[in-house]
Amino acid sequence: MPDRGFTHTQLAARAAYLLRGNDLGTMTSAAPKLYPHMWSWDAAFVAVGLAPLSVERAVVELDTLLSAQWSNGMIPHIVFANGVDGYFPGPSRWAVSELAAHAPDGVQTSGITQPPVHAIAVQRILDHGRRHGRSTRAVAEEFLDRRWADLVRWHRWLARARDLEGNGRIALYHGWESGMDNSPRWDAAYANVVPGPIPAYLREDLVHVSDAGQRPTDAEYNRYLWLLEEMKGVRYNDEELTTAMSFAVEDVFVSAVFSLSCEVLAVIGEEHSRPHADVRDLYGWAERFRRGVIATTDERTGAARDFDLRSGKWIATETLAMFAPLLCGGLPRATELALLRTFEGPKFCGHPDLRYAVPPSTSPVSKDFRSREYWRGPVWPVMTWLYSWAFARRGWAERANMLRAEGLRQAADGSFAEYYEPFTGEPLGSMQQSWTAAAVLDWLG
Ligand code: SER
Repeated sequence: MPDRGFTHTQLAARAAYLLRGNDLGTMTSAAPKLYPHMWSWDAAFVAVGLAPLSVERAVVELDTLLSAQWSNGMIPHIVFANGVDGYFPGPSRWAVSELAAHAPDGVQTSGITQPPVHAIAVQRILDHGRRHGRSTRAVAEEFLDRRWADLVRWHRWLARARDLEGNGRIALYHGWESGMDNSPRWDAAYANVVPGPIPAYLREDLVHVSDAGQRPTDAEYNRYLWLLEEMKGVRYNDEELTTAMSFAVEDVFVSAVFSLSCEVLAVIGEEHSRPHADVRDLYGWAERFRRGVIATTDERTGAARDFDLRSGKWIATETLAMFAPLLCGGLPRATELALLRTFEGPKFCGHPDLRYAVPPSTSPVSKDFRSREYWRGPVWPVMTWLYSWAFARRGWAERANMLRAEGLRQAADGSFAEYYEPFTGEPLGSMQQSWTAAAVLDWLG
């Protein structure tokens, strides 16, 4: 039972009600005001939360996302809802329909990508399909038949277009592609981005989050927008991005997520008799990216690092990304235990002043820590969910349950906030964030 606020039954009902409220028909907005469109990794987590309520509706969510897939295989980070304003940068600023050869027809998208967590959603859809009886199971399996090739194409694009060196790490050309926009992970790389002339713009996010201290700064936004201009300059061409962008990093967290998603999809493929060549490729990428992640780690602590492709320097930060190997596995046992001790110890979940024992986005002992500032410190419930899910998958049931219990205690305030202040538990950013509700629904499902 929660120590305050809503009971689990009430919380599940409110989470379901929230997703209904954010449902635009065939997509769920990431949040009602701040993010009024579909975001790629949000959509995957939303599908995880929808699956226990309605496998059919969860399938619609992924179908909408995959219908916006680019012809090169990329799943774009935003699929814009028709006729909805209130978010910047919107379709006209990205201008992908005019510029990008691979952009889809009939739907407007952004021109960058986001972490590949979608296989997790597919797995949850199939799991719930099995539980719900024959016709629901058929819906889930028919979805897999229909979208298998698209899912493999998505993974193939990441493995080819974003791992040019074949070293098992995914390159990103914008901090937004990491999903962790202003994480201290990217500070050094952004310091080398010198904005040129940027067409005038107005930040819509600050209309919805009145405390600007909870959002990235204007200086950060100028860089975010400048990178769009750089991409537009090469018409979002995969080849040319590799040299044109002044921001280029290898993201260890995304690489670990990719490794684990490849494995999840490979297992699904085997169970559902998908083409042998696809399954073989997926297992191959799972292994290549696991090695790529492990190659970044510190021998003693197991902490993983990002890499700045422009400066040629490793990026070691005390953020959620250092735990990437716990997602995909591959560390020697003793090192893995050391990394788990860091995760559970006073630098992260075990920090004595935390309101709940869940991992903050940046360690409170780090000099970069800011308790209220987006990815610089706050706790993101969806990350608690991802680590708890991954720990369960790795066979660490007790650790997974602990995160779940603490995540639910935090969520019992009923705000379903985007992120929370780690010491006070104050909800921050957007309220009624879809993926926070989804995490709760999966935990209680
Ligand atoms: N997270 C970004 C934003 O805040 C977009 O991906 O708008």
